[in-house]
Amino acid sequence: MNWFQERENARRSHFYEIWENSVPQVFQDVPTYYRKGNIVASLGVWEIWVWQFVRSIILNPGDHVLDVAAGTNDLGLRLLKKQPDIHVTAVDRSRDMQRQGQVLAKRNQVRIESVIHDAHELPFPDNSFDVVTLQAASRHLQLDKVFPEIYRVLKPNGRFYHCDMLRPTHRIVEWLYLRFLKISVALTAAAFGSSAAARNCGTYFSDAIHHFYTPDELSAVLGLCGFSKIHCRKSVWGGMVGFHAARKVVAESPSSGG
Ligand SMILES: C[S@@+](CC[C@H](N)C(=O)[O-])C[C@H]1O[C@@H](n2cnc3c(N)ncnc32)[C@H](O)[C@@H]1O
Repeated sequence: MNWFQERENARRSHFYEIWENSVPQVFQDVPTYYRKGNIVASLGVWEIWVWQFVRSIILNPGDHVLDVAAGTNDLGLRLLKKQPDIHVTAVDRSRDMQRQGQVLAKRNQVRIESVIHDAHELPFPDNSFDVVTLQAASRHLQLDKVFPEIYRVLKPNGRFYHCDMLRPTHRIVEWLYLRFLKISVALTAAAFGSSAAARNCGTYFSDAIHHFYTPDELSAVLGLCGFSKIHCRKSVWGGMVGFHAARKVVAESPSSGG
């Protein structure tokens, strides 16, 4: 067993029950204030991160894009603004988040196909998408299942873009960051009148980051899942947030040249 498998087993033993029971309850509650909540909890920095992430994503006219754990389609809407000539499919297991995502798509007069499904088994054929994105969700996912699924549904040469809050490389930054997170999640949940599930998730949010990957580790994980041309395009503030890009490069078989 390699270190990645060991880490995923450890993450499962810490969080599986929370991922299955508490996380769905949290996302039942937040759809209508999700974006505002993120802005408040991060003191506005969220918008800068998302803007930087969108800037780093290369989109060509006609691309088929899959946004995994798409939530309220925050990312899909921004991608369609950047390049209107793309087809966006959103997959998320939360009906409530996606319902709000469809309201926002309608309001912005764009079409985003919505698929309600668990990200650990993507309901799409092999080699379906030019681009796959995953933003602000992989801390809640089993990466040894999701990353191979993303690889499978990408077309050869397809591009994967990942952005999330990661485990900072510097221990002092981590200590300060996790304490800030616990307090800001609790205050934001109270300010928006959230349910008990959302109010109590501050400890889980900080524990999930403590057991997650640093930017360099995440690059190595992508390599172990088969991806090539892996770049940690940017990691900000001691690795608190990282933007990764990777490709599915399929070696040509010797007979394919004719
Ligand atoms: C923090 S939100 C991020 C939403 C969106 N990617 C964004 O950046 O705005 C996390 C999302 O992951 C979804 N999610 C969590 N576990 C999932 C799973 N196993 N399969 C599919 N979606 C999942 C939740 O329903 C939620 O919508």
